[in-house]
Amino acid sequence: MKRYHPLLVSIHWIVALMVLLALLVGGPALAELENSDPDKIFALAGHMIWGIVIGTLMIIRLITRFSTQTPPEADAGHAMLNFGAKLAHWGLYLLIFGMVGSGLGLALSADLFAISFGSSAATLPLDFKDLTARQAHGLIANLLLLLVALHLLGWAYHQFIRKDHLFRRMWFGKRAE
Ligand code: HEM
Ligand code: HEM
Repeated sequence: MKRYHPLLVSIHWIVALMVLLALLVGGPALAELENSDPDKIFALAGHMIWGIVIGTLMIIRLITRFSTQTPPEADAGHAMLNFGAKLAHWGLYLLIFGMVGSGLGLALSADLFAISFGSSAATLPLDFKDLTARQAHGLIANLLLLLVALHLLGWAYHQFIRKDHLFRRMWFGKRAE
């Protein structure tokens, strides 16, 4: 098996784009907006939908990952690096689910679904910063950003130093050897 399943490949790239946008653009812009800003509720609704779509795609991706054949483990040339890559890949799944979980926790603890999507007349708290789920969401966002940067470094190492065309495994094409 030379490549990942095309569904896994598609979801890898869609989720990569969606997560990077949420981490670098959407999330920080949302956090900048004061809760008293009239645009905040609309922005919250958009970010929550975006995050839930990421979570749903990740569940489909995980099911595809376990139910399809994957290429043999890539060789980075050192047992420690190979172990690190495996750890990083599962870490990416874990942290993304951590983002979605803490986001949902935050939404539930501040009643954001009723405020953003329902007809609730309740208003937003002054800010979210004292909520544990908010603190976790911010912390996990930083960890995820760090791990994505490491993941990119891993890719660059394979691409430019080992020159083993690892990228092809996460792209479309003939899968059989
Ligand atoms: C937020 C962004 C990203 C996330 C969350 C992510 C996540 C993952 C995960 C979890 C895997 C392991 C395969 C699996 O089990 O599904 C993987 C593999 C891979 N990713 Fe990413 N990725 C991201 C961005 C990128 C980018 C920007 C590149 C390249 C420029 C890239 C290149 C690859 C390659 C080449 C593989 C295959 C590695 C192998 O065959 O061992 N990824 N990615
Ligand atoms: C992988 C998915 C997600 C990513 C990458 C993401 C990313 C972010 C980032 C980067 C921030 C700003 C953090 C900071 O500056 O400290 C943020 C804030 C926030 N996110 Fe998410 N998020 C995701 C999913 C969700 C979900 C599913 C929900 C709710 C259902 C949610 C609700 C929120 C809320 C309420 C805030 C706080 C805004 C504020 O402080 O005013 N997020 N998110």
